[in-house]
Amino acid sequence: MRTTRVSVTSLLIPITQGLAAPTTAKTIDRVALLFVNNRLDASNILSLSGCDDDCCQWRGGIIHLSRRVTALGLSDLDLSGSIPPDIGNLTLLQFLNLSHNHLQGQLPPELGNLLHLESLRLGSNRLTGEIPAEMGALHKLVILSLHDNNLTGRIPPSLGNVSSLTHLDLAGNRLTDTLPSSLGSLPALHHLSVTRNNLTGAIPTSIFHLSTLTHLYLGRNQFSGSFPSDMGKLVDLRSLSVRDNSLEAKTKEDWEFFASFTNCKHLHTLNLSHNKLEGELPTPITDLSRQLTFIGLGGNNIANEPTSADLARLLPGLHVDKTAATGTTTSGGTPKPWSCGCDIYLLLHAL
Ligand SMILES: *[C@@H]1O[C@H](CO)[C@@H](O)[C@H](O)[C@H]1NC(C)=O
Ligand SMILES: *[C@@H]1O[C@H](CO)[C@@H](O)[C@H](O)[C@H]1NC(C)=O
Ligand SMILES: *[C@@H]1O[C@H](CO)[C@@H](O)[C@H](O)[C@H]1NC(C)=O
Ligand SMILES: *[C@@H]1O[C@H](CO)[C@@H](O)[C@H](O)[C@H]1NC(C)=O
Ligand SMILES: *[C@@H]1O[C@H](CO)[C@@H](O)[C@H](O)[C@H]1NC(C)=O
Ligand SMILES: *[C@@H]1O[C@H](CO)[C@@H](O)[C@H](O)[C@H]1NC(C)=O
Repeated sequence: MRTTRVSVTSLLIPITQGLAAPTTAKTIDRVALLFVNNRLDASNILSLSGCDDDCCQWRGGIIHLSRRVTALGLSDLDLSGSIPPDIGNLTLLQFLNLSHNHLQGQLPPELGNLLHLESLRLGSNRLTGEIPAEMGALHKLVILSLHDNNLTGRIPPSLGNVSSLTHLDLAGNRLTDTLPSSLGSLPALHHLSVTRNNLTGAIPTSIFHLSTLTHLYLGRNQFSGSFPSDMGKLVDLRSLSVRDNSLEAKTKEDWEFFASFTNCKHLHTLNLSHNKLEGELPTPITDLSRQLTFIGLGGNNIANEPTSADLARLLPGLHVDKTAATGTTTSGGTPKPWSCGCDIYLLLHAL
């Protein structure tokens, strides 16, 4: 029954012949297979019919253990069980996608041993416990996606050391405490989402100085305090949501942040709904980005809040089909496994 859900099964093995492998490498690769087969209860999907010293049979082919695993993609396959610490032994792993399964238990700190990891996707599972601080060591990580689990505790400040990160998605967990200001030192971050958690305190000013940010989702938490007046440093910002928090603006000075949005020339969505904003907008909506297709101000106490009729008249792009704005960008060259969209993949690397 499970196997009917597998839409694409691909086993990509480079043509290059591997050199004779040291026993340790064979052991490591066998661990990868035993990991998916036993711990994640994937035997129906993988049909792993046996491993000897040199190879393992896997539905659709033979895996030669003279190669190391560099990518493992097993998303949306009803996998259950927990992620074993032994995954940290797959030290050449670059891409790991176990998203959209039913994985439980904690994230093993050994994930921090995977120093070649570029993309880690574990979203939409049932993972619990804290995000291990050890993940701050993953200095090649570009994508970290842990959304829609039951992760608790503080976002580890050590993530601020993962300077390669462009995409950090922690939405839909039960994370608490403040957003670490160290995240504001990630020099390549484009997309940050911590929406739907229980984060508290002020939003660190450092976040609003990340000039690379295009998408910033902080909504549905318990953030409080006011906005820094220089938010307009986010010159590339496309979409900002701080909806459903307890952010304040009362005085004229508090409202300066709003005027600074005029620097965000690409802004298309701005959601400030359901906060504690009081007083008057200091800048007409028409001074904001010409790309603006949505602005949410409701659930505050704004004296000069434009009506929806005003907005329809003022925002030329308001009726633009929003789905057109969320296309994915594909850069040239060989597609990365994180863009292949296949449910199952295992990439191996000749030793
Ligand atoms: C993974 O590495 C650890 C530490 O070297 C070792 O104790 C463990 O046995 C390895 N796991 C497997 C399944 O080989
Ligand atoms: C998170 O935990 C709550 C309560 O224990 C449970 O109801 C919910 O289904 C869990 N969510 C996930 C994604 O596991
Ligand atoms: C970042 O890494 C350095 C070592 O490279 C370490 O001393 C520091 O504690 C780390 N920062 C955080 C916030 O973990
Ligand atoms: C957030 O915290 C409040 C109380 O502090 C609690 O009632 C609520 O369930 C928490 N929400 C989540 C998603 O953990
Ligand atoms: C803006 O936030 C409100 C709730 O505060 C929500 O109902 C609405 O769907 C959000 N809109 C967008 C486009 O984010
Ligand atoms: C990872 O899994 C998600 C969810 O199934 C999927 O959308 C995405 O395309 C996968 N990525 C790769 C590279 O397979």
